[in-house]
Amino acid sequence: MTEQSNGSGSARRGRFITLEGGEGAGKSTQVRLLVSRLEERGIEVVATREPGGSPQAEALRDVLLSGRAARFGPRGEAILFSAARIDHVDKIIEPALARGAWVVSDRFADSTRAYQGALGNLEQRFILELERVAIANARPDLTIFLDIPPEAGLLRVSQRRNGEPADRFEAEGIAFHAALRKAFRDIAKAEPERCVTIYALAPEGDVAAEIWREVETRLLEEAPKKSSRTRRKHAAQERA
Ligand code: TYD
Repeated sequence: MTEQSNGSGSARRGRFITLEGGEGAGKSTQVRLLVSRLEERGIEVVATREPGGSPQAEALRDVLLSGRAARFGPRGEAILFSAARIDHVDKIIEPALARGAWVVSDRFADSTRAYQGALGNLEQRFILELERVAIANARPDLTIFLDIPPEAGLLRVSQRRNGEPADRFEAEGIAFHAALRKAFRDIAKAEPERCVTIYALAPEGDVAAEIWREVETRLLEEAPKKSSRTRRKHAAQERA
């Protein structure tokens, strides 16, 4: 029996994990490592990202990252990110969760809370209402915030860019990125049952191990459908 089936023929709803954080925190590497680890456990996983993730949302991604959407101001930009999110949720995330697959997304609604909401000085009520409309039932079960000092993150990004121009958000200064870090930390503090903050300047393997520990304790160990015998077998395999 795989993680997704509940033994009665109908799929148990999958789990939704999001990775968030500032620029250069290593989110995409960690998404890749997490996805392969989940797949090793026999779980069907859909790896995705924002802005984008579905064809319509990917079309909006170029507009959002080019800086052209900045003319709308933070409210308008938040609405555009949310419009992309609606398509992503409807076409990719919700169908995957409904068939029992797990979804791992590189950024999601907390990026709108932090970048447009906190940094754009938008009313929290506006952002939360927008979020309710855009994501409906697709609330993350677990959100990992990869926390990195902004100087280190921006340095990583500029090295990775290799001469290519910075996007709209990478081009902002240190003060913007320090405020962003605080915004993510505040979200994590406010919702500890969903969020965990992991220091991302540690070696890649250590960060991956810490993420895996959270996934195991918060999402895998609570899964009710495995018999204790299967669980003991897994534990024995992991010890070997
Ligand atoms: P991306 O190239 O995916 O960079 P990163 O590796 O940092 O994720 O760019 C996504 C950018 O879009 C990033 O700077 C954060 C920003 N963003 C928002 O401002 N609001 C949002 O709702 C989302 C999803 C992303």
